[in-house]
Amino acid sequence: MSNKPLSGYRVLDMTQFEAGTVCTETLAWLGAEVLKVERPVKGELGRYSQAEPGVDSYGFLVMNMNKKSITCNAKNPEGFKLLEELVKKCDVIVENMGPGSMDKLGLTYEHCKELNPKIIYASLKGFAQNGPYKDYPAFDPIATHTGVMVSATGLPERPIKCGISVADSGTGIMLATSIITALLHRERYGVGQRVDCAMQDFMIGLSRSQWEPYYANGCVPNRRVANGMPLEDVAPSDTYPCKPFGTNDYVHIYCSRHPGSKQWDNLCDVIGRPDLKQDVCPEMATPRSRFANREICDNAIKDWLKNYDKFTAMDILCKADIPAGALLSVDDITNDPQYYAQDRKMMVEIEHPQRGKVRLPGFAPRFSEVEIDYECSPELGGSNEEIYGGLLGLSAEQLAELKEHKAI
Ligand SMILES: CC(C)(COP(=O)(O)OP(=O)(O)OC[C@H]1O[C@@H](n2cnc3c(N)ncnc32)[C@H](O)[C@@H]1OP(=O)(O)O)[C@@H](O)C(=O)NCCC(=O)NCCS
Repeated sequence: MSNKPLSGYRVLDMTQFEAGTVCTETLAWLGAEVLKVERPVKGELGRYSQAEPGVDSYGFLVMNMNKKSITCNAKNPEGFKLLEELVKKCDVIVENMGPGSMDKLGLTYEHCKELNPKIIYASLKGFAQNGPYKDYPAFDPIATHTGVMVSATGLPERPIKCGISVADSGTGIMLATSIITALLHRERYGVGQRVDCAMQDFMIGLSRSQWEPYYANGCVPNRRVANGMPLEDVAPSDTYPCKPFGTNDYVHIYCSRHPGSKQWDNLCDVIGRPDLKQDVCPEMATPRSRFANREICDNAIKDWLKNYDKFTAMDILCKADIPAGALLSVDDITNDPQYYAQDRKMMVEIEHPQRGKVRLPGFAPRFSEVEIDYECSPELGGSNEEIYGGLLGLSAEQLAELKEHKAI
């Protein structure tokens, strides 16, 4: 299909691991031509998996769909020259290398702007490049610890980090939206620009709801409430076990903390405990009084859940207007056909030359006028001929020479 919103835009992708690669994958899904620059022979570090050397890691497959791969040794003078030529032909350059690495290579914003005055130069780092931590490296847990999240997650006596890379993927997606904004700005005002997004800063913004209890409680540091409601002491709000009581057999139930909500009364009807309704039982009269007497309310819920698995419990409760979510694992999602439906495609099956058919998550938003197509991650250097030959006009002999000199 040719209706891709970003078709016609070309991105020089110097990203690695998760944070940067998720940014450029988002741009690629939306139709940009993404040229993933990788070291010759080894490729991007994220391709490699210790368990299976020589085969692309699953992590690489999931973060690099719809891209083209070219090899280039940026530290080789001939390789560097190729990058300079590509900067001239691209709209955007994206990188998430360690602090100072792009400067050491000589690919600064200033130099790229000289080569291409309207370039959009996007960087993703652990910390703000104009703050005191600018020279510090960072992986996801560093950003979630320094960006509020972990201080609000876990048990009162022990902070616990999140099991997925919220800071990596989240900052990547935030950088992608910022790049699209910069492209729109360029179209309106005719100028390129530099865009920086730090993982710590992204996490501070993502943690914004924590400022409500902070001020409401007189500016004391936030508490950790395990699976409880972090903003206020209310009940029910917990992750309850259900049949058949395995590792992931849980359902989370949360009734609104706002006065006047009928959700608790609805729950009492469903679980066969009308004696616990707000107007009948003084201990259960408000979300806060239920928290003070949460053993009563939690035990009633647990008793009912003994008879149901998480999917059935979620269906029954939600159909009675009680917010409830089954705890769904990667396995639950991968094996449920609803996510693969043609008009949904939250999960997609791609064919990979080394791995065969692999089922992976796709792009969440749905557009009425745009369809997202999915292609598997590229083979290392799979687009060298197309890009160096076609786009930069190099001959087969020149390409062979560059290869011999270990530039590509
Ligand atoms: C994630 C991080 C800590 C990893 O650190 P690292 O493993 O030491 O890797 P770096 O990015 O610092 O270094 C990569 C090196 O490969 C080099 N490199 C990358 N692509 C290259 C290419 N095509 N050709 C030649 N060299 C290349 C870089 O120039 C750099 O060399 P240098 O160390 O001499 O400067 C660091 O990259 C970082 O802080 N990135 C920003 C934050 C971030 O994105 N974190 C989350 C990642 S999911």
